[in-house]
Amino acid sequence: MNELEKVIEWFVEAGVSDITSNEIRTSSKKEITSLTELREAVSKIPISLKDCALNMVFGVGNPNADILLLGEAPGAEEDKQGIPFVGQSGQLLDKILAAIGLDRTEVYITNILPWRPPGNRTPTNQEIELFRPYVLKHIALVNPKIVVCLGGTATKALLQTSQGIMQLRGKWTRIEGVNAKIIPTFHPAYLLRSPSQKKEAWIDFLSVKQEMIQE
Ligand code: URA
Repeated sequence: MNELEKVIEWFVEAGVSDITSNEIRTSSKKEITSLTELREAVSKIPISLKDCALNMVFGVGNPNADILLLGEAPGAEEDKQGIPFVGQSGQLLDKILAAIGLDRTEVYITNILPWRPPGNRTPTNQEIELFRPYVLKHIALVNPKIVVCLGGTATKALLQTSQGIMQLRGKWTRIEGVNAKIIPTFHPAYLLRSPSQKKEAWIDFLSVKQEMIQE
């Protein structure tokens, strides 16, 4: 059996019949109802991605937050510490959050992939599809009012769109399977490489702040 077949078999056993749904079950077929159960289920996904990683990077922050930030995948520092956004991108993310009056205790942060792809490569379409039901479940369990997609990969994965981040950033949207309003913006790593785009990101985060006030 190849890796894809193994993962599909595991998914079927876990009760995932529709990858747009967030109905994922534990190994004892019980519906997952907590982040602890979800973490356990994710850790058991039989995928070779985790063989190259040091740690699983699940999520961090306030599990009852109104805002959930969704990144792409852990980098080297996140892989070492097992915590999302603790490297250079994370430091910039903290500054952006502080600029709208928030810190990590008030938001929840997770990624599309819970393991660092080898050499920091971009997640493949296959990996994105495999992890999407877990991401939907993760969002459902935190139940935020707002999801901020950080960068093109997180946006493409969550919205299942072929449109790029340049077209989508700053535009509020909703999708089936997610209760929250969603806004894509630039990834902090992109902002570090292209600081002239920070003003666009600033506009997006001001829109998040405005939406929080209205909620
Ligand atoms: N980039 C991401 O998308 N996620 C992290 O956790 C770190 C860097």
